Amino acid sequence: MEHAELYAQSNSNQYKDNEKILQEYKNKLNWVENEQILDIGCGTGNTTVDLILPIIPKSASLTGIDISKDMIKFAQKTYKNDKLRFTTLDIAADNVTEILGNETFNKIFSFYCLHWIPDQRKAAENIWKLLKTGGMALIVFIAKSSLFSLYKWLSEQPKWKEYMLDVNNYASYQDVQNPCEIYSELLHATGFKVIECYEKETSVNARTIKELEKALKAVNPFINRMPIDIQGEYMNCLMNKILDHNLVKTNESEPQNISYIKPNQLLITYCQKIS
Ligand SMILES: C[S@@+](CC[C@H](N)C(=O)[O-])C[C@H]1O[C@@H](n2cnc3c(N)ncnc32)[C@H](O)[C@@H]1O
Repeated sequence: MEHAELYAQSNSNQYKDNEKILQEYKNKLNWVENEQILDIGCGTGNTTVDLILPIIPKSASLTGIDISKDMIKFAQKTYKNDKLRFTTLDIAADNVTEILGNETFNKIFSFYCLHWIPDQRKAAENIWKLLKTGGMALIVFIAKSSLFSLYKWLSEQPKWKEYMLDVNNYASYQDVQNPCEIYSELLHATGFKVIECYEKETSVNARTIKELEKALKAVNPFINRMPIDIQGEYMNCLMNKILDHNLVKTNESEPQNISYIKPNQLLITYCQKIS
């Protein structure tokens, strides 16, 4: 995902979900002084700075990491604060601890990121390595989404196939019956105590189809691989399929031009490193 400017303009759905979840957990997190806190997949940094920073103790330090250089550059340019650090890092890499100077963290957050990671085991192991013993992690990602089914369909179309060869590497829990159970098992096996794990439906709201298209383009991992002159056609193809499948509807309780896509299934996990 290398669309920092676009994501910054169109992440209000993720932001609202993150805000609600942090409100729910902020008093459960047992804050102490001088904590080190990490946000994995921080993107443009607005959840890190506008939502996480205000709820942590004043003495805490906060690090945001993201695989995308573009996102990190955007976050560094936009937010300057002594307590903050933004670093480019793949959470599924072999040497995560060394890259962060062998620092370990009291709390780890991750919002809307881990569904992009093919090696779920490696990501869980790295989160474990980066946490101090007794440290807590709040992990939120998309377990299932109608959008991932559409990506699969697009990846079978001759025109888009070559750009989407790794489509099955994403969204590891899309075809799993009980994502909570499977993810909790993985975390247990890694050395975590799972305190809470539940699924929650969330929709993508937009005022217009164009606005929805922009929000979907901002999180599309395939489009940047395509020549610029066919990217518009690719998005048209995706949006037409969304309309054909009746995934966008007018929301009667909202002003006239509000639409929404069928719900994503978020997986919300709160866990502790115990060994
Ligand atoms: C949809 S954005 C979420 C950003 C922010 N957490 C939020 O909730 O608005 C997902 C972010 O995860 C990042 N990401 C994807 N794979 C990653 C990986 N392996 N390691 C670190 N970050 C990753 C992407 O670059 C992107 O910035």
